Amino acid sequence: MAVPFVQDWDLVQTLGEGAYGEVKLLVNRQTEEAVAVKVIDTSQAKECAENVKKEVCVHKILNHPNIVRFFGHRKEGPTVYLFLEYCTGGELFDRIEPDVGMAENDAHRFFQQLMAAVEYLHNIGITHRDIKPENILLDDKDNLKLTDFGLATMFRFKGRERPLNRLCGTLPYVAPELLSRPEYKAQPADIWACGIVLTAMLAGELPWDQPSESCQEFSDWVQKKTYLSPWKKIQPMPLSLLSKLMLVSPDARITITDIMKDRWFTQGVKHPPASLSSGGKKLLRTDVGLKSRTNSDDRMQFSSSQPDLAAGGWEAMLLISQADGQVSFSQPTKPEHMLLGSQLLGTPGASQSPWQRLVRRMTRFFTAVNADASLSALKEACESLALGFKLTCTKQVTVSTLDKRNNKLIFKVHLLEMNNRVLLDFRLSKGDGLEFKRLFVKIKQKLGDIISTQKILLT
Ligand code: ADE
Repeated sequence: MAVPFVQDWDLVQTLGEGAYGEVKLLVNRQTEEAVAVKVIDTSQAKECAENVKKEVCVHKILNHPNIVRFFGHRKEGPTVYLFLEYCTGGELFDRIEPDVGMAENDAHRFFQQLMAAVEYLHNIGITHRDIKPENILLDDKDNLKLTDFGLATMFRFKGRERPLNRLCGTLPYVAPELLSRPEYKAQPADIWACGIVLTAMLAGELPWDQPSESCQEFSDWVQKKTYLSPWKKIQPMPLSLLSKLMLVSPDARITITDIMKDRWFTQGVKHPPASLSSGGKKLLRTDVGLKSRTNSDDRMQFSSSQPDLAAGGWEAMLLISQADGQVSFSQPTKPEHMLLGSQLLGTPGASQSPWQRLVRRMTRFFTAVNADASLSALKEACESLALGFKLTCTKQVTVSTLDKRNNKLIFKVHLLEMNNRVLLDFRLSKGDGLEFKRLFVKIKQKLGDIISTQKILLT
């Protein structure tokens, strides 16, 4: 690794990548405490340095069990390091099965915790403005932690609320009023995004690319065509809540106070769980197709000509007390958060949309045999399916074939040894994503005998 250690903190691996830079895992040599460090290169864009300042000023004042803890920051030239609570559970995004979602009771619990985080933020006058599954992490106990306050701002100060005008967020999650009006209210816009997150959790797809009438799926929702996907996959009680969360009029949209009185929110899942009924949601990891959406991560660019905080005083409130650069790890994560299982988190391709990344992450499984045995079994499976099999590295295989339409399909299989098991991680290199997924399912079926059904143990 290029940087062997940072003072007493070993740089273990990259946890994630984004437009801002990277998030890396640091582990303390002595105590083995782990923290995540977000490395931001502020030289890339003019607004970047200001955005980071604001991110620091907002995040450092936050203290809630459902918000990623901020431990400190450090600035070295154009690079800013943000030291954050390390969340071993990864992104909420990775718990969503494409086209399926997740078990309704899990979605219910995550939604309750998301609302607790957003209620806390709104109570102290802060809006997140980029709520989406990629900005929602999970800890070792699957507690939800909202993160990335790069677009957050103060919308209420000393009891006075101000309207917002900055077009920001991520298109599939933005509220329609952001695209149709010059100003918008902070709270209803965050609530809309929570509705999209809930839809993704319950149906495994985003309902539209953007909430404009030119988008057919959005018009269908406005016309209450809930017999269409994704709505038809959702039970009546959560669907009733969704219809209130995603009311086009921000003034008519449900408030957090009323969400907390909603029947589904308070009572949760009212039908038999999937395993007990045929009508419920069956969670078959990876055994599904993916309705891929392109451009789902098209972040709107900040309009630098429109100052975000028109009224003086707001910014000043946020820009107070830039620390002296010293980092204090007041409460790093617990020892059981350490290292183990960290190899699991890959480095997602920066050029991919989150929904494409999801496909890659879902296409993997553990075997219960060693790497050599896994490799031979994989070779045999590929040969029986008449697929090209080539060992490209000691722990990497390239598989190539032609799909139904005679198009090239190439993917790589990485073998990662951890504890007593081997992770087989399949990644598409070239070709159709759905064809790749279908082939993955076939190979997985062939390897049925050696697949480990054991739950992933982190300790
Ligand atoms: N990815 C981005 N931020 C993270 C964090 N704080 N913990 C774990 N993974 C992350």
